[in-house]
Amino acid sequence: MGRPRARPLGALLLLGLLGAAREWTGSPEQVRPLVTLEQLLWVSKLGSVHTYRVPLLAATAQGSLLAFAEARKSSKDDTGAKFIALRRSTDGGATWSPTSFIVDDGSQADGLNLGAVVVDRETGSVFLLYVLCAHHFHCNISSTMILRSQDDGVSWSHPRNLSEEIGTDMFAPGPGHGIQKRYEPHRGRLIVCGHGTVERDGISCLLSDDHGENWRFGESLWGMPFGKPKSYNDFNPDECQPYELPDGSLVINARNQNFYHCSCRIVARSWDAGETLPLKAVTFDPTLVDPAVAAGAVATSRLVFFSNPAHKSQRVNLTLRWSFTNGSSWWQDPLQVWAGPSGYSCLAALEDGGTSRQPPRLYLIYEKGQGQPTESISLAKISITGTL
Ligand SMILES: *[C@@H]1O[C@H](CO)[C@@H](O)[C@H](O)[C@H]1NC(C)=O
Ligand SMILES: *[C@@H]1O[C@H](CO)[C@@H](O)[C@H](O)[C@H]1NC(C)=O
Ligand SMILES: *[C@@H]1O[C@H](CO)[C@@H](O)[C@H](O)[C@H]1NC(C)=O
Ligand SMILES: *[C@@H]1O[C@H](CO)[C@@H](O)[C@H](O)[C@H]1NC(C)=O
Repeated sequence: MGRPRARPLGALLLLGLLGAAREWTGSPEQVRPLVTLEQLLWVSKLGSVHTYRVPLLAATAQGSLLAFAEARKSSKDDTGAKFIALRRSTDGGATWSPTSFIVDDGSQADGLNLGAVVVDRETGSVFLLYVLCAHHFHCNISSTMILRSQDDGVSWSHPRNLSEEIGTDMFAPGPGHGIQKRYEPHRGRLIVCGHGTVERDGISCLLSDDHGENWRFGESLWGMPFGKPKSYNDFNPDECQPYELPDGSLVINARNQNFYHCSCRIVARSWDAGETLPLKAVTFDPTLVDPAVAAGAVATSRLVFFSNPAHKSQRVNLTLRWSFTNGSSWWQDPLQVWAGPSGYSCLAALEDGGTSRQPPRLYLIYEKGQGQPTESISLAKISITGTL
């Protein structure tokens, strides 16, 4: 399969500037999301992999799509040995490369867990982060690992042990994608958010101001009671997905693990690009009913999209919502993507690079099944304006 040659960075930057000048912005009359194509990227129990779980999706600077998932070798458990599976599309999700396994953790009892993918639009680099020994199951030390692709996801560096810089407190990135700041403050910063456990309680974000060379933690939003095991109804922000609003603030939409206040999402916000996550900015979104799961969110063209199994206790009813109001309210008629079993999801938008005033193309990857959400990983291509 042919691959478009890399556009020179200068041209990309120029297109980016033009794009900012005449960005398509959706109005309520135009936005009618419709699934135009859906395909299963991975099916569990086919071949040598027991279960595929935890899908991630990214749109690269060159306009490719990268889909990742945990390939759990011999059981469906969160622990156990795994590969990281990757499929790549250079034609907007019409066709996908065969699966390549880009990381193999061998036979570890508490192997790798995904993870977050983040694209640096300025350099074209793609970073993938995951954690080893997240559960301290037959192991003592958690390690956060990072690998990089400098050729649009074709080849990958060896994983680097980020814990040598950031410490070995358990930090599980994502699951989902990190962001690169588009607006001030700290335009260009890479931000990857995730959660810890008792030792690194609550949610925190890793920040890089030098295109992914060095990373450090911003301040965390701690759980309560701090540093203790949590009970039902305790405040325990968990797996999370950041996005940036047009005012340059960072929103982190988080799993409400112990159903504090509601069976709905926790929403944290930062006005300093993740340096602080102030408690007074934490809200709960009663519209985003949630069974405690990893959800998808992406901001594009002055819209915010959100995906999750919209049910207060079961992983069913995968639903796409959108907001014209920076996520402060959601359009009243959401799109039900799959009524049946469905779990973790991730959203990505392919933006047009400024060459036309076309709306971005939206992609949703999610755990989907007939009886269990872990049966397969599905990719839905969504037309924002409802046209084919
Ligand atoms: C974990 O640490 C404890 C105490 O330091 C030690 O006794 C134990 O053997 C370690 N377990 C593993 C699997 O390394
Ligand atoms: C990563 O680095 C930490 C801190 O030096 C170390 O304790 C841990 O064993 C390393 N992990 C791996 C997988 O090499
Ligand atoms: C969303 O945020 C932007 C930037 O602050 C602002 O210009 C716009 O009016 C906001 N939209 C709504 C509907 O509040
Ligand atoms: C599924 O989600 C929709 C919103 O998309 C909601 O109106 C409906 O009640 C939900 N159905 C179930 C069975 O939870």
